[in-house]
Amino acid sequence: MEILEAILRRRSIRKFLPEPIDREILTNILKISRRAPSSVNSQPWEFTVVQGAILNDLRAENISKYRSGAPAETELSTSYWPKDSIFRERQVEIAKQLFSSMDIGREDTEKRTAWIERGFRYFDAPAAIMITYDKVLSPRGPLMDIGGAVQTICLAAVQYGLGTCIAEQGVIYSSVVRDHTNIPDTKKLAISIAVGYPDWDFPANQVVSNREDIDHIIHWVQ
Ligand SMILES: Cc1cc2nc3c(=O)[nH]c(=O)nc-3n(C[C@H](O)[C@H](O)[C@H](O)COP(=O)(O)O)c2cc1C
Repeated sequence: MEILEAILRRRSIRKFLPEPIDREILTNILKISRRAPSSVNSQPWEFTVVQGAILNDLRAENISKYRSGAPAETELSTSYWPKDSIFRERQVEIAKQLFSSMDIGREDTEKRTAWIERGFRYFDAPAAIMITYDKVLSPRGPLMDIGGAVQTICLAAVQYGLGTCIAEQGVIYSSVVRDHTNIPDTKKLAISIAVGYPDWDFPANQVVSNREDIDHIIHWVQ
C-alpha cells in the first residue's frame, strides 16, 4: 500500500471484530513504529500490549470506576478546549457526526452513557497498547516523539487490515491500568491505542471526520 493511501484511509475505529491479532503482526507494527523520529534519537516510547483476560479486567474496572463517579487520574495534564473556541467547535462537530451515525439524540442519556463506556472498554478491541515514557524526561520531547510513533503505529496497522483508535480515555483511570500491567512507577502513562480488525457494519466506523480548509491553516511568507 502506498503511504499516501494509508494516511488517507486511516480513521478512528470504535468497534472491532472479536478476532485476536497474531503476536507477530503486532510485533511487526511496533518494530516499524520505532522508525519514527525522536529528539536526539532518544526513542522515549515503550509499549505495553494488553490482551486477553487482563484486558477484560481493565475494561470491567474502568467501567465500575466510571459508574462510581471517580475523578480522572490522568498522569498528564487533562486535555482542555476553551469554550467558544474553534477547537471546541471542532470537538462538537465530530461528536455530532458520530452521534448522528449512531442515532444518539441530544437528550438520550442512556445511549450517551453507553457510548462513553465503549471508550472505557477500549471499544471492545482484542488488544490495547499502552504507551509510556521515563519520568526522568520533561514531557515536551517525549510527547512530540510519541505522537510520531502513535501515527506510525496507526498507519502500519492499516497495511495489515487493522483499525485503531488512539484513546486518552484508556488511560484516564491510570491506577486501573497500573494495577494489572506491571508498568513501573518510573514510567509515565501517556496514551492508549485500541487495535483490532474493524467491524465495518458499525455505523460510527464509517464516519470520516472533517478537516479545516487548507487556506485557513497555511501561512505563506516570502
Ligand atoms: C491524543 C488523542 C486522544 C484521543 N482520545 C480519544 C478518546 O479518548 N476517545 C475517542 O473516542 N477518540 C479519541 N481520539 C480520536 C479522535 O477523536 C480522532 O482522532 C479525531 O476525531 C479525528 O478523527 P479520525 O481519527 O477518524 O481522523 C483521540 C485522538 C488523539 C490524537
